Amino acid sequence: MTTDTTIKDDAPGSAAPGETVLDARGVTMRFGGLTAVRNVNLTVNSGEIVGLIGPNGAGKTTFFNCLTGLYIPTEGEVRYKGNVLPPKSFKVTAAGIARTFQNIRLFANMTVLENVLVGRHTRTKEGLWSALLRGPGFHKAEAASRERAMELLEFVGLASKAEHLARNLPYGEQRKLEIARALASEPGLLLLDEPTAGMNPQETRATEELVFAIRDKGIAVLVIEHDMRFIFNLCDRVAVLVQGEKLVEGDSATVQGDERVIAAYLGEPFEDSPGDEEIAEVEAAEAKADTTTDAAPGKENDR
Ligand SMILES: Nc1ncnc2c1ncn2[C@@H]1O[C@H](COP(=O)(O)OP(=O)(O)O)[C@@H](O)[C@H]1O
Ligand SMILES: [Mg+2]
Repeated sequence: MTTDTTIKDDAPGSAAPGETVLDARGVTMRFGGLTAVRNVNLTVNSGEIVGLIGPNGAGKTTFFNCLTGLYIPTEGEVRYKGNVLPPKSFKVTAAGIARTFQNIRLFANMTVLENVLVGRHTRTKEGLWSALLRGPGFHKAEAASRERAMELLEFVGLASKAEHLARNLPYGEQRKLEIARALASEPGLLLLDEPTAGMNPQETRATEELVFAIRDKGIAVLVIEHDMRFIFNLCDRVAVLVQGEKLVEGDSATVQGDERVIAAYLGEPFEDSPGDEEIAEVEAAEAKADTTTDAAPGKENDR
């Protein structure tokens, strides 16, 4: 059992700069007649934050499930640091990929600290028998685990609530706790499925800072989110899934300017989270409408 309190350079997690951490090739997932994910290639390199966006039902969560051993892809291959992933979620976690869920999955009646301790079990050598017999090895390992768990709670800003029941946390803090629990497995790649869903703008900003801090610890991040401002602020690269296929991939500017992406999103989440440019456009149109007696140009922009 290690007693280190920082994420070590030789932890299963960390990778050399520029190394390909995740390499998904030709991933296809079919459910009966429905192809939810079709021939998707995606890489994430160490030090990167990569975004995955797309309308509802595009296959984003299904793709995550294929990366984490929850689903076995119908076709294709997923490699983590060069090795093909084992088809079991706990083995994938042990290999170094951790995730959070679109629908929060916490142990509601456990404390905040206990939830993080659950996340550590893939990293502790002490097995079931040691835990049951509660020998000296168990107590030592437990003390180290608690220390590490408290450190992670400190990191996400929940240390003062360690003894609260998870179900009593406000929604935004439950999402933070899920992140702390995922980090407890000391991953090299963290997958976040809609981490800011249901958050207010302040909480979303804080989550942005938290994701940057996670990246700065040497953990690569792949994030699904509908909040476009969040995604384009955060990500080095963004991939767009539409109807199971990767439509576009590139840096924020490339993706934001792509006609196909705009078309795929018409009437979709851009409405909830306009980018700076869109806000400026609307304000300009409003200013124009105010200063002119002819209503026509204003109307043009109402559509
Ligand atoms: N376990 C499943 N069985 C059958 N269909 C599924 C299953 N999981 C997802 N789907 C379908 O796959 C498509 C993609 O869903 P999902 O990956 O949840 O999309 P997203 O996360 O992009 O909103 C949807 O049409 C959904 O109904
Ligand atoms: Mg989803």
